[in-house]
Amino acid sequence: MALYGEKFLDELLSKINLVDIVSRYCNLQRRGSSNYWACCPLPGHTEKTPSFTVNEPGQFYHCFGCGKGGDAIRFIQEVETVDFVDAVKILAEIAKMPLPVQSEKDAEKSKLLKNKKDRLHDILRETAIFYAKNLYDEKALRWREYLAKRGLDGKTVKVFGIGASLDYDGLPRHLKGLGYTEEEMLEAGVCQRSERGKIYDFEAERLIIPIINSMGKVIAFGGRIYEDKGFGKYKNTAETVIFNKKNNLYGINNLKKVKQEENFDKVIMVEGYMDAISLYMAGFKNVVASMGTSLTLQQAKLLKRYATTVLVSYDGDSAGQNATIRSLDIFENEGFEVKVVSLPDGLDPDDVIRKYGKEGYQTLLNNAQPLIDYKLSLIENGKDLQDVSERRKYVQESLELIRTVKDEFLKEELVKKVSQTSEISYASLKRDLESGTVTVKPTQKKEEIVVKRVKNNATSLAERVVLWAYVNDKDYAHDKDLQLLNFTDSTRDTIAEHLVYDEAGTVKPRLYKIVGDEGLAELDAILSCGDIIPSDESDHKRYFYDCYNAVRKHNLAEDVKRLNELYKLELNQEAKLKYAELIAQKMEEIKNV
Ligand code: CTP
Ligand code: MN
Repeated sequence: MALYGEKFLDELLSKINLVDIVSRYCNLQRRGSSNYWACCPLPGHTEKTPSFTVNEPGQFYHCFGCGKGGDAIRFIQEVETVDFVDAVKILAEIAKMPLPVQSEKDAEKSKLLKNKKDRLHDILRETAIFYAKNLYDEKALRWREYLAKRGLDGKTVKVFGIGASLDYDGLPRHLKGLGYTEEEMLEAGVCQRSERGKIYDFEAERLIIPIINSMGKVIAFGGRIYEDKGFGKYKNTAETVIFNKKNNLYGINNLKKVKQEENFDKVIMVEGYMDAISLYMAGFKNVVASMGTSLTLQQAKLLKRYATTVLVSYDGDSAGQNATIRSLDIFENEGFEVKVVSLPDGLDPDDVIRKYGKEGYQTLLNNAQPLIDYKLSLIENGKDLQDVSERRKYVQESLELIRTVKDEFLKEELVKKVSQTSEISYASLKRDLESGTVTVKPTQKKEEIVVKRVKNNATSLAERVVLWAYVNDKDYAHDKDLQLLNFTDSTRDTIAEHLVYDEAGTVKPRLYKIVGDEGLAELDAILSCGDIIPSDESDHKRYFYDCYNAVRKHNLAEDVKRLNELYKLELNQEAKLKYAELIAQKMEEIKNV
């Protein structure tokens, strides 16, 4: 059940101009007749020279720096970090368009679902308020002392909404008083039912840390016990309709706020609630917690909206464990620049702040190692390099790692390092590096943002002008048959295919979707052809014919080339003759174009 139909969305997009929308977020400068440029306004990308463009006729944007692009809806999703539905709402408001009335049954269904979700959000909010107020109750003295002992001031307690649960039945009683049913309390994950059927506070008698999403909504709680037991120290709200630990990062709400005030591109990633809180209080406000060491792909993607560099600051004891390495690889595969902040053994960031102050932590940050250096040092750790066989192992593993590096300069640097540590000559290591077989682990396959470079030769130019004429539904374009043409670029081919089977008027607004992210640069080049076509309309037709014929000739010449190859390879005399005939035919056609 789609919430908004295609028709509504098309109308909405036709009523707004992307140039106006984007202008609300940055200073667009016009260049050429169809393009506007600015420094990229999207979260997670900071730059000094503009690489963000808006194509007015195509109504799409594309950033050559961060590779993002799309239509107005996608832009609002990115810039406001909202989902599709909310982005449409924002645009509808700007366009002064009422949201569509759904069929009664659909409307009823989505209203029920929405009501349900809204009510769960409400319960969670009410619960958070209840816990926060509890903290000032006389029964919460031990928690206030506990927080003070850990160095948390009142302001920080408020920013993070920290609270306390005092008993088992206070919360359900309170929620019942507000009109919520037991089923709703269970579904929101704030209560549980005992074996005897009694409903009780899921986080009973714990210190409460609310988990808040990027929209500022409370979605779950982490509860800490008083004693310093290792196992089961924290208990988090179980998965619910609105909470999925895998998709969330603790502190993302504050990160978003901070990002609006100061534009950073580095984020510190810690494991624990308390680490995030402690760093924030010490002035390191660009911090989030993964809530444990097992980072997920979704968490990395979420963070990508806000930063390009991640400083992984996991606990000193777990550094080097496989979970940490896996997290680091996830970040790298998502295109982050990854640096590892090594902490003294047994300490977490919160401990460091308390023991060595913020200056101490700053020093560690300054010494953060690039991921590759960190991996290299892990290989060295625990090996006795005086022992010949261990030294050989060290060299082998290091070279295997270095082979995965693409940057030649960096490779050299790393080989030098290994040469120093192992006292094996640089030249011999270099030889081994090149002779070894390259092992590419599947996890290292990078999903790069491929911004396809646009080709700029005469054929490309002619092909673009032809497509430009069809896209803009020029009368003279109908004198020629688009179906006869092949293009030297897959994006152009795709566009042509749609224009052959559909009216230009309906294709144009969908173009950015049709070509996909990697085709946006090419689409931009096509739609910008208006700038190079003669300004005099009467010359348009001739210019179009010239371009069309050039493309056609090029196609025929390619055909001849291919047929020649076949001719040469063919052994059967009869078939050979057929090819010769075809070649002659094509040559004749070329003459006549
Ligand atoms: N965690 C969890 N459940 C547990 C243990 C840990 O969800 N039983 C998550 C929490 O988000 C916790 C993080 O993993 O914050 C890191 O755990 P740990 O290092 O043990 O916690 P700290 O944040 O250091 O807690 P504290 O300083 O309060 O002891
Ligand atoms: Mn800790």
